[in-house]
Amino acid sequence: MLTVRAPATSANLGSGFDVFGVALGTPADVVRVERAPKTTITVTGAGSKYIPENPAKNTVGAVAKALDAPARIRIDKGVRPSSGLGSSAASAAAAAVALNALYDRGRSREELVPIAAKGEALVSGEAHADNVAPSLLGGFTVVTDDGVTQVDASVPVVACLPEMSVSTRDARGVIPKSAPLEDVVDTVGNAATLTVGMTRNDPELVGKGMCDDIVTPERTSLIDGYERVREAALEAGATGVTVSGAGPGILAVCHRQDQREIASAMVDAFDAGGVESRAYQTAVGEGARLY
Ligand code: HSE
Repeated sequence: MLTVRAPATSANLGSGFDVFGVALGTPADVVRVERAPKTTITVTGAGSKYIPENPAKNTVGAVAKALDAPARIRIDKGVRPSSGLGSSAASAAAAAVALNALYDRGRSREELVPIAAKGEALVSGEAHADNVAPSLLGGFTVVTDDGVTQVDASVPVVACLPEMSVSTRDARGVIPKSAPLEDVVDTVGNAATLTVGMTRNDPELVGKGMCDDIVTPERTSLIDGYERVREAALEAGATGVTVSGAGPGILAVCHRQDQREIASAMVDAFDAGGVESRAYQTAVGEGARLY
């Protein structure tokens, strides 16, 4: 039996819609695999009752099929589904690493990115790789049609997860089909600033570059209390705040010493609107690990 832990991730980071992603230190999914004549899946842990165990409908089933690697697969969810923290991607990345090793398929982590992304198509209708790439490779990743670029980073973050669900399909449905040139220019500038910030592990630059006027403003209306939580995090010292992935999770970048205060400010701000939430005080971290 092989065991792999794959981390939650936060995609987009405001200015890098469908391009940027980071691996988070916590939470994470743990996947255990054993060779078997045909694939079976069992799911336990956070939100497991919402996840289909039928391999034809599960992201991990799609990965097993793509690697021609039938197995008895047990998924222990640490990343709640529909959270904006790359729940399906964490399972898919963990399964890709585990099954690749179990069957000696010899694929590199980069080669596993499109394979793990096949599972994403089942969830959102599109095989975007901005969550599976950081879950597999760790650090900060940039996904384009030409492949993935990765840089190690360790910027501190708070990921606040409210007790509400936003489906990725719905969150993609509100995105405008086109944008004014000036908004595109601003977003490119922010994306470049953020990228430099990641290479320097500079929370000020990352926070400054973590915004856009195209996608995020349309999505915040789907998250009850977003503006209140964002303002509370900024007041507590966050250097930047944005929607994590498709939401409803909210990601704040910060200096390590402000983390605790930001986490409690975000939870209190959700609470003021009658919404329970949980804040992960973590940092950009490593990718999937095989035990
Ligand atoms: N980039 C994707 C989106 C990530 O924002 O729709 C979904 O987790």
